Amino acid sequence: MQRPAVVSNLAELRQAVASARAAGKRVGLVPTMGALHEGHLSLVRASQSECSLTVVTIFVNPSQFGPGEDYDRYPRTLDADLDALGTCGGGILVFVPRTEEVYPPGFASWVEVGPVAEPWEGRCRPGHFRGVATIVLKLFNMVGADIAYFGQKDYQQALVIRRMVEDLNVPIEVRVCPTVREPDGLAMSSRNAYLSAEARQQALVLWKSLCLADAMVCEGHRGAAAIRQRLRELIQSNADMRIDYIALADPETLKPVEQVSGRTLAALAVRLGSTRLIDNRFLEPPPS
Ligand code: PAF
Repeated sequence: MQRPAVVSNLAELRQAVASARAAGKRVGLVPTMGALHEGHLSLVRASQSECSLTVVTIFVNPSQFGPGEDYDRYPRTLDADLDALGTCGGGILVFVPRTEEVYPPGFASWVEVGPVAEPWEGRCRPGHFRGVATIVLKLFNMVGADIAYFGQKDYQQALVIRRMVEDLNVPIEVRVCPTVREPDGLAMSSRNAYLSAEARQQALVLWKSLCLADAMVCEGHRGAAAIRQRLRELIQSNADMRIDYIALADPETLKPVEQVSGRTLAALAVRLGSTRLIDNRFLEPPPS
């Protein structure tokens, strides 16, 4: 197992990407905040299947955390991350910028994305997507990759990034790859590291409720209010859970639907003690 090369300043990164380009290589980008798990590694492998150089960025971005959120305790596990990337094979360059290089004194420009950033995470975490869109655009500009890879677990984030890329003519393709789950269904997330063994079991209710929504739709239920109510009851049967939202929505606009009449996104966010977990899945009514 050979750990990938790591660069921490922009000039070195640009030089490495420029030489890859000069050699005719396609460049992929996997932006992360570290604490890498199999979900991240699946993005790395997706990039490796299309690109000869994959730049993995590791940067816990302060501007996407609100006051009182988990910026300070977010897991920082660079050694383990480099070991994990070492198992993925060659063609990887890791960029670990310093916060002062990303946000130097006087930094004052921000990216605001419109309606798709407003509901759900946008409402529960004011300023979150402004921070995400800004850092992602900066990483796009720093790396200059051809293709960037994101996970479907952060569905709304992927939609916000697609909107920004289209609106601001950013010359990059965005790929959204399937959520990777533990064998029992729990979506992989760096924040799962916060869960005690008991909370880890309780957290399964997220995937169970998304599966319940899918089963209801397959059984012929179409009313979104009734489906959301059943999910709410299932989640609230656990006294430790606080629901931030349960949504059934159009997958493109995120506007709530009243009837599940076509492909619909079910998305939810739940708090378990001080840990906040999100998950989503598509609901596909069978043809009648
Ligand atoms: O999904 C994440 O880990 C982060 O939001 C991202 C895209 C790396 C931006 O900081």
